[in-house]
Amino acid sequence: MAALDQRRQAMLQRMGVDVWRPRDEVAEIEATPLDVAQAEADSEAQASSTVPPPRELSAPSAWVSAATLDWPALAACVADCTRCELSRTRTQTVFGVGDRQARWLVIGEAPGAEEDKRGEPFVGRAGQLLNAMLAAIGLAREAVYIANILKCRPPQNRDPKPEEVLACRDYLDRQIALIQPTLILAVGRIAAQNLLKVDTPIGRMRGQLHHYGARSIPVVVTYHPAYLLRTPSDKRKAWDDLCMALATYRERTAGLP
Ligand code: URA
Repeated sequence: MAALDQRRQAMLQRMGVDVWRPRDEVAEIEATPLDVAQAEADSEAQASSTVPPPRELSAPSAWVSAATLDWPALAACVADCTRCELSRTRTQTVFGVGDRQARWLVIGEAPGAEEDKRGEPFVGRAGQLLNAMLAAIGLAREAVYIANILKCRPPQNRDPKPEEVLACRDYLDRQIALIQPTLILAVGRIAAQNLLKVDTPIGRMRGQLHHYGARSIPVVVTYHPAYLLRTPSDKRKAWDDLCMALATYRERTAGLP
């Protein structure tokens, strides 16, 4: 990416990434090869409360498929969802927020306590950092769409169970089909593994371009903002991921109006 302008530097500062380096050094950092061993060690730590790797389950036939629903019908279907046990403990569903024609789709894990209360994804401390991360690459929160793998909060913020991920899966698939984003940013191991149906450690998923669905939408994986709040030393790596996402987006949209 070209030299950082002042606004972006301010955003990076809000994100907690050191910004005192000379500009040419920032370009160098963008080109730094990933420290895979370190990232894997981090991902092990992050995986300490690991969900079992995604396994193939099949959806009960009683579910009405979301595959052909339009936005209002899909939102209503999610709001009334009782497909899994999380419907008994949630305050409300958290459908997603943002521009339904956004070019960027951000996918997180599941609502936390604050999101469950307010009905909107990423509104707590992690959400503030996510906003700063997006702003650092010139994106306003309102300009992207933000959704989660799960639409309901798991009690005590435990990891999603495979059957809960399966129950929610076609809601997210339908959101992606309706938005048709140019790029998906998966934040965190659980979002990335479940979206892509793999069990690769996040340290190995970062720094590579992945693809979603029949249209091969590019997917960039980065750390979850909640993890970055606990491990600020990895914000630099998250910045690398954001640069990769921006470069990919620019490549895909080069020459378009
Ligand atoms: N973490 C997530 O993954 N999603 C949210 O909506 C909030 C926190």
